Amino acid sequence: MPERTDLQGRHIVLGLTGGIACYKSAELVRLLTKAGATVQVVMTEAAEAFITPVTLQALSGRPVVSSQWDAREPNNMAHINLSREADAIVIAPASADFMAKLVQGRADELLSLMCLARPRERCPLLVAPAMNREMWSHPATQRNAQALLQDGAHVLGPGSGDQACGEVGDGRMLEPAELLDELIAFFQPKVLQGQRLLITAGPTFEPIDPVRGITNHSSGKMGFALARAAQEAGAQVTLVAGPVHLPTPRGVARINVMTALQMFDAVLPLAAQNDVFIATAAVADWRPASLSEHKIKKEGKKVAPTFELTENPDILAAVAQVPQGPYCVGFAAESERLLEHARAKLQRKGIPLIIGNLGPATFGRDDNALLVVDAQTHHALPADGSPTDKLTLARALMAELAQRLQAVAP
Ligand code: C5P
Repeated sequence: MPERTDLQGRHIVLGLTGGIACYKSAELVRLLTKAGATVQVVMTEAAEAFITPVTLQALSGRPVVSSQWDAREPNNMAHINLSREADAIVIAPASADFMAKLVQGRADELLSLMCLARPRERCPLLVAPAMNREMWSHPATQRNAQALLQDGAHVLGPGSGDQACGEVGDGRMLEPAELLDELIAFFQPKVLQGQRLLITAGPTFEPIDPVRGITNHSSGKMGFALARAAQEAGAQVTLVAGPVHLPTPRGVARINVMTALQMFDAVLPLAAQNDVFIATAAVADWRPASLSEHKIKKEGKKVAPTFELTENPDILAAVAQVPQGPYCVGFAAESERLLEHARAKLQRKGIPLIIGNLGPATFGRDDNALLVVDAQTHHALPADGSPTDKLTLARALMAELAQRLQAVAP
């Protein structure tokens, strides 16, 4: 798959303050530039005690700036020039001391001076705290974190776990890959702010005996991409996932299930609490009527065993019947006559929107081509029908969904 360039055209000023997590910022620079961003690193004196500007210059391809008296700037106003060019300022790691300085509006060195001088309405400030757990939980730091939020900054993390000092707890800087995802999400339009989305994804597994079962080739990738895109768009997302080995998108609440019945039991109680339900799961239509307690043995048997199958409940159709239920979106994986089958399914399940795709062409793949079908209209996504990566499609679907929700809003 080609590398994603979700930050193409973005200019990030990355500020490093004093903390052992500075070594991770080198990796962050690499990830940001790989994602298409240009990165200007600014370091405090304390940061330079942990990692050298040489490393960060080499990775960012730009000389690091660390002094407000830097004569390389023609007007000698690094704090103004840097913040006027930036699409965002990210402080990672942000020490307890630096957070306190930001809160007080102090400006006695370049980085804090630049943060204070930034045009707040167009240059957001994102702060990734990194410190010992006692420092993080101290009321002074907690007050400062709250004050930063009130002043319009965004606080990323911190994470929890092993700390360089040997203690365990809250205060670790988020991992570089997590910070990258946070930043990518930050720049996505918040078209679903405040909406609650419930999404099913992946296959189900219907056991025959303790070691065997009936399942299918659904990889869960489309449903996981939708969950990520919805979260990036500002929604609160619950993802009910069949057995797949995909990482949970950041900020998404995940419920793992195996069988269609478990998926039904997980989804139905949540249906009325959500604004939207998107069913991408490839739910098995049938399950063995009874589960053999022990492994069905081959030895001594001349004829193959037979099983009786019984029908699984249709989760989507059931959610569509919930009084004051969510806006329901189905998926139709077909092998031919997509529009015809998708529209028939829309009517059969009593839902306002269905997304058709060619199942065999997309199962397990990173790209897909969709047909968006409602009762009257249909259109291809992307418009030219060419296969597109699932996250890009998922983001486009969220924009489409937001418009449709607005149209049906009371
Ligand atoms: O009827 P069919 O399985 O083709 O419909 C597909 C759509 O219905 C998908 O959105 C799928 O997630 C949903 N579905 C469901 N429960 C089932 C079967 C399908 O939610 N038992």
